[in-house]
Amino acid sequence: MSYLWVDERLEKIPRRIHLLNCKFVFDNISYEINIQNTKSHNRLNICYGKLFGSDDSYKKIVIKIYEQSRSQIDTDTYVGLLDEIEVHAEIEKRIGYSSYPSHMLFFFATKQGIGIIFDNLGLQLDKTNLYMFDFKIKKLMILQLLLQVNCLQKNNIYHGDLKPPNICISVDGKLSLIDFGIAYIESTNDNTFELSNIHYNTTITSGSPEYKLIYEQQESKSPFPKELFDKSELWAIGGLIIGILLNDATIYFNKSLELLNLLKFPNENLETSDLSTRFSYFNQNFCDCIKQFINFNLSDCYDQFKPIILNMFEFDHTKRETLENIIKQIELIDL
Ligand SMILES: Nc1ncnc2c1ncn2[C@@H]1O[C@H](COP(=O)(O)OP(=O)(O)OP(=O)(O)O)[C@@H](O)[C@H]1O
Ligand SMILES: [Mg+2]
Repeated sequence: MSYLWVDERLEKIPRRIHLLNCKFVFDNISYEINIQNTKSHNRLNICYGKLFGSDDSYKKIVIKIYEQSRSQIDTDTYVGLLDEIEVHAEIEKRIGYSSYPSHMLFFFATKQGIGIIFDNLGLQLDKTNLYMFDFKIKKLMILQLLLQVNCLQKNNIYHGDLKPPNICISVDGKLSLIDFGIAYIESTNDNTFELSNIHYNTTITSGSPEYKLIYEQQESKSPFPKELFDKSELWAIGGLIIGILLNDATIYFNKSLELLNLLKFPNENLETSDLSTRFSYFNQNFCDCIKQFINFNLSDCYDQFKPIILNMFEFDHTKRETLENIIKQIELIDL
């Protein structure tokens, strides 16, 4: 399969195909998209179908399409999808072919919209029946998650929206990250990150306290150390690991939402006070509650996981282990 790179995009892509049943030629191979099933969001259509190559091979695919009538074309929507295409092209450039983060097979534009084609990677984590996997497979799932995020981070790519609906699990337990719609790519090599074009708008429930801090301080445009970015995704990963172990992918995310609602700032002063005051309020309450929750819910059979997960929820990001160390520790867990 060939790929279209972002800089060449829109020049090479066929423009006159019909979205729902189209044929096009790329690199001398003709493709036929045959869509069987369409699931609509407000603006986004997710279609399932088959992609037929002229060499008789075909893949089961997922097509993510922004489809709008011409009168309603909304630039932000297009830009969002183009951003995602760009991230996928960049992942391919930086880490080569990998079957773990969802892999862009193709993208195209038509009169009606623009679409990206992916391999069908299975069910979303929150829709997966986790009971059907034994501990050994779950440990492998967790390692796949950590290895993927680590590999992306090493290449200065931050998914930025790690939550159960953005993780796919295949029937044999292969885990893949999907939805790079708000992923953040950094090109600098000096170990700091400029916030000029950051779109780190992840909800705090799937991000660490620093997500919020980074987001709120966008205005200041001061560079952040790479380490802070690296460690910030641990919080969400911890939530995902808890979910995999407890057979309920959303348990942590629901709990943190509940806590956040309880933690509404008690008075106006706090709401309008400076960031560090609000941050420390958040620290004292939220982190402690999450730790209590982990201690209470992860039963004895997960004793080996407990300290590792608790460490991911350290408020002070410098106290959190690096992903490499966490991977080593989890590899040693004997289930
Ligand atoms: N590679 C894939 N394999 C299987 N299913 C996929 C794949 N990519 C996307 N999907 C399905 O399409 C849905 C939307 O994809 P995605 O998360 O990329 O878009 P989104 O804009 O975040 O939409 P949503 O609001 O549903 O999260 C997913 O929730 C999943 O059901
Ligand atoms: Mg999503």
